[in-house]
Amino acid sequence: MENAEVFAPPFQLNPSTNDVHSYSEPDKVRVRHIDLDLEPSFDRRTLEGSVVLTIEKAPRHLTAPLVLDTRGLSVHAVEASADGESFRNAKYEVGSEDPILGAPLRISLLPQESKVRINYSTASNATALQWLNPAQTAGKKFPFLYTQSQPIHARSWIPIQDTPRIRLTYTARVRTPMGLCAVMSVGNNPKANCGDFYAFSMERPVPPYLIALAIGDIGFASTGTRTGVYAERPVLQSAAYEFADAEKMLERAEQLYGPYLWGRFDTLVLPPSFPFGGMENPGLIFVTPTLIAGDRSSVSVIAHELAHAWSGNLVTNATWSDFWLNEGFTTFIERRIQEDLYGKVRAEIEEVLAQERLAEEMRKLEPRDQILHIDLTGRDPDCGTTLVPYVKGALFLKSLEEAFGRDRFDDYLKRYFARFSFQSITTEEALNHLKNNLLDKCPDVAVQVSLREWIYEPGLPTSAPMAVSESLNRIRKQAEEWQKHNVNHLRTQDWSAHEWLHFLRSLPSDLGSRKMRELDETLHLTQRTNAEILHQWLLMAVRNQYEPACPRLKEFLATVGRRIYIKPLYEELVKTDAGKKFAEAIYGTVRSSYHPISQATIDKIVGGHNGSERPAGGKGL
Ligand code: BES
Ligand code: ZN
Repeated sequence: MENAEVFAPPFQLNPSTNDVHSYSEPDKVRVRHIDLDLEPSFDRRTLEGSVVLTIEKAPRHLTAPLVLDTRGLSVHAVEASADGESFRNAKYEVGSEDPILGAPLRISLLPQESKVRINYSTASNATALQWLNPAQTAGKKFPFLYTQSQPIHARSWIPIQDTPRIRLTYTARVRTPMGLCAVMSVGNNPKANCGDFYAFSMERPVPPYLIALAIGDIGFASTGTRTGVYAERPVLQSAAYEFADAEKMLERAEQLYGPYLWGRFDTLVLPPSFPFGGMENPGLIFVTPTLIAGDRSSVSVIAHELAHAWSGNLVTNATWSDFWLNEGFTTFIERRIQEDLYGKVRAEIEEVLAQERLAEEMRKLEPRDQILHIDLTGRDPDCGTTLVPYVKGALFLKSLEEAFGRDRFDDYLKRYFARFSFQSITTEEALNHLKNNLLDKCPDVAVQVSLREWIYEPGLPTSAPMAVSESLNRIRKQAEEWQKHNVNHLRTQDWSAHEWLHFLRSLPSDLGSRKMRELDETLHLTQRTNAEILHQWLLMAVRNQYEPACPRLKEFLATVGRRIYIKPLYEELVKTDAGKKFAEAIYGTVRSSYHPISQATIDKIVGGHNGSERPAGGKGL
C-alpha cells in the first residue's frame, strides 16, 4: 500500500459538527496515528500494554490539552514527547464516568509535544471485548478473544478520540499465548504462521470504530486472489464453501464504485456468540457463523459488509446521528450487488422481507426514532441501530435511482465516493452534495423527491418505492391455502430459504399447538439448521407455547448470541408468566456467554440483572 500521508487528508474537520458521543475536542488537538502494543491475559480477561498517540494541534490551540475517551480503563502512566524518543511524565486527569460515554482523559501537553504514550489495561467487563472459554468455541480446546468497537466501544480497549469525525492510521504489536493466531482489521497475511507475536499496519486512515482484533485458534482458506476466510479450523471448509462468491462480489462492486482500497477482502467467522450478523472491519469483515447455512442463502451479509468498504469505511458518518449515511447507502449497494450476481427475483425477495420487517418495527418505534437524521442527544447511540437507517435509508436511495435512472444514479454514487473518500461527513454535507450534483441538474425530476420528508420526518413518504415479489406472493397464497386444508397440499420441494421464511411469516401468530405440531411432523421445522428459518420457527413456538420445541429453543439461546435473533425471542417469552420464568431461568445460566453488547440489550428485557455497567441500549440489530 502507498504511504499513509498520501491518503490522510489535511487538517480539515467541519468545525460546526458536534459529536455528542465523544469528550474529545479534535478541532483543537487531533490524533492522527496510534501504535498499539498489547498482550492479552485470558485468565484475568484483560488486555494490557501501551498506546503511543501521534497528535496534530490546530495552530491556534498549541496549548490545549489532548482529550481522549475511555471506559473502564486503568491508566498506569501517561508520558509525552516532542521527538518520539525521550518521554517525560505528563500531567493527566480522568473525569467522572458517565454511564453512556465513559470518562474523559485530559492530558496537559507542552506546545511542541506531538507524541503521547499511555500504559494501561482494560477492565474485565470492557464493552468491546468478548473473552470466550474453550467450551464456547467450535474447537473446544483454546480460548478466543474478539473486539467489537462500533459504535462507541473502542474506548473500552484503547484510550482514543472515539468519534467517527476523526480518522487515524495504526500499527499494532500483539503477543499471543499458546501459539494462538491474531488477526486485525488490516490486510492480514494469510501465509503467516501462528506464532507468539504479530505485527500489523493499517496505512489508510480509518475512524476508530473500525479498529478490530481477534485472537484464537484461527486457520485460513482461500476463496480467490484477494478473498478468503479465517475461521476456527472445524468450520473452515464449510465457511469457504458458503462465502465462495466473495471474489465475484468484490469485482462487481469495484466496477460500480471504483477501486477497493483495503488490500484483501477476507472474512473472519467468529464463534456463535458474536452479537451481529456482520461487521465491516476493513480488510477483514467479522461475521456470525449463523450465516453458514450450507445453501449460501445468507451471503447478502457478505455483500453488505463489502459495500461498507465504500459507504462507511471510505465515506464515514461524522456522528451517530448520520448513521443512515453508512447503513442506508450500504443496504442499497448490497441489493445492487445481489441483483447483479443473483438476479432481480432474489434481490426483490430480500427487499420485500426487509421492508416487511421495517414496517413491523416502525409500528413499535416512537416517531423520533423513525427519522433518518436521528437526534441521539443524551442517548446511547445503540438506540439508533434500528431498521430505519438501513431500510428507510435504502428506500430513499432507491427512490432517487428510480427518479433519475440507474445509469445516472450509479454514476452519481461513484462521484460521491470519490469526492468524500477518507472523509467523515454529516447528513447536511451529503445532502448539499446531492443537491448540487444530482437534484439541481434535473430540476423537473428533483421536484418528485421531498428531502424534508425522507430525512427529517418520521414514517415513510407515501411515494416510497416499495418492492413487490411475485414469488413471495405465491408463497403467501400457499400459506393461506394450507390454513384452509392441510400440509399435504404444500408444494415445498423447490423452496429457497427465503421462501420458507416467508411461508412461516405468512402464517397467523395464533396458530395453536395442534397446527404447529402438524407442521412440525411433516416439515421437521424444529430440526432445521438454517438459522433464519429456525429462528422464525422458534418465535412461533414461543407464541403458541409449542412445548416440543423447548429443548431446541434452550439450545439456540445458549449458543447463539446474534442480537437480531435472541432479542425478539426473549421479548416474546416475557409476554407470559410461564415464558418469563423460562426466560429468567435460561438467561440466568447463559448470560455470561453473551457479548456485553447483547447482555446490555437482554438485561433490559429480562430484568433482574444488574451485571451491566451501563444503561442497556440496543433497539434493533
Ligand atoms: N455496521 C453494522 C453492525 C453494527 C451496527 C455494529 C451498529 C454496531 C453498531 C453492520 O454492517 C451491519 O449492518 N450488520 C447487520 C447485517 C446486515 C446485513 C443488515 C447485522 O449485524 O445484522
Ligand atoms: Zn452495515
